[in-house]
Amino acid sequence: MFETLPLLPNDPILGLSIAYAKDTNPSKVDLGVGVYKNDAGVTPIMAAVAEAEKIRFKQETSKAYTPPAGYPGANEASTKLVFGEGHPAVEANRVRTVQTPGGCGALRVAAELIQRAKPGSNLWVSIPTWANHIPLLGSAGLKLREYPYYDYASHSINFTAMMDTLKQVPRGDLVLLHACCHNPSGADLTRAQWDQVADLCEANGLIPFVDMAYQGFGEGLEEDTYGLRMLSARLPEVIVATSFSKNFGLYRERTAALSFVFADESQANAGLSNLLSVARSIYSMPPAHGAALVDIILHSNELTKVWSDELTTMRERIAGLRVDLVQSLNQLQSQRDFSFIANERGMFSFLGLSVEQVHKLKNDFSIYMTDTSRISVAGLTKEKMDYVSKAIVSVL
Ligand code: LMR
Repeated sequence: MFETLPLLPNDPILGLSIAYAKDTNPSKVDLGVGVYKNDAGVTPIMAAVAEAEKIRFKQETSKAYTPPAGYPGANEASTKLVFGEGHPAVEANRVRTVQTPGGCGALRVAAELIQRAKPGSNLWVSIPTWANHIPLLGSAGLKLREYPYYDYASHSINFTAMMDTLKQVPRGDLVLLHACCHNPSGADLTRAQWDQVADLCEANGLIPFVDMAYQGFGEGLEEDTYGLRMLSARLPEVIVATSFSKNFGLYRERTAALSFVFADESQANAGLSNLLSVARSIYSMPPAHGAALVDIILHSNELTKVWSDELTTMRERIAGLRVDLVQSLNQLQSQRDFSFIANERGMFSFLGLSVEQVHKLKNDFSIYMTDTSRISVAGLTKEKMDYVSKAIVSVL
């Protein structure tokens, strides 16, 4: 039967890491997958995570199954991290959080629950959006529709076009929003724009589905939640998928939280029972290790401080690299102004290159990025800045 399966190309993002690993050029630079690297080009185990692992090693006495919702302590702590202290929806007991296998797991479980509640629902996604949103959410059965978001010519959000499209969206449809550090553009909504989105969702009965994969990488741990906390305070139903891959550096541990804000407590109880049943039908229960570390860190004031300080250093390093890259590119040439890169947030920005130019960078310089010319800024180092800038300018 499997002769029917065609050979597929590598994943457009993860495939870059495979190609990069095979490249023998000592000057190679990986600006592909969104993974934080320090100035030595290494993805570190964060200090608080390493400390928590020692504690866990001593504390763990069994490998028996964990509950299907994951670590209760981790869920309670991540609810607080995402929604903040005393959030009205949490206080009203309308929020339910389950741990999932990574941010992808959170998105997929959410999509499966939407399918159960209202099969074939429309989910409006930004153009562009993270490449994997489409297969991940679409293959659960949701109908993906598009709203304009990033204007490549002006390197900014076309908010008027976005709102004009969203105004036409039928009541009950879902809108996928990036909490911060929009992937792939790095262009985030302002607070005033979030408020307008909330007004529209409230007036027209739209349900926000917020993907937060980079909490702490935009403006700060608290600041990056502005939109989702405000939406969750104002609207009856909101979905929030939170990944701990980047902000705890737990990529391979597949650690994430999925929170639903339900209209009332009784719907929340029914909703949770369905979330657990969805999880059981796919993977039974999430992996334990990463969530146990999050649990340990967020329940220790000392480790929380170590963790958030390191996260601040990571955020500031990326912001610094953005400024350095702009300076370097603008000094080397005058035909294009790359200043927009310094105004964008998180790991990604578009360079604005053609596919041919991207391939030339890969083939001639061993510099890897997606075909859309999205770069993961965190993959740059001070040492490689000059090499990368000169290579980019040479293909312009
Ligand atoms: C990315 O966009 O590079 C990251 O979110 C990693 C991934 O899984 O695609």
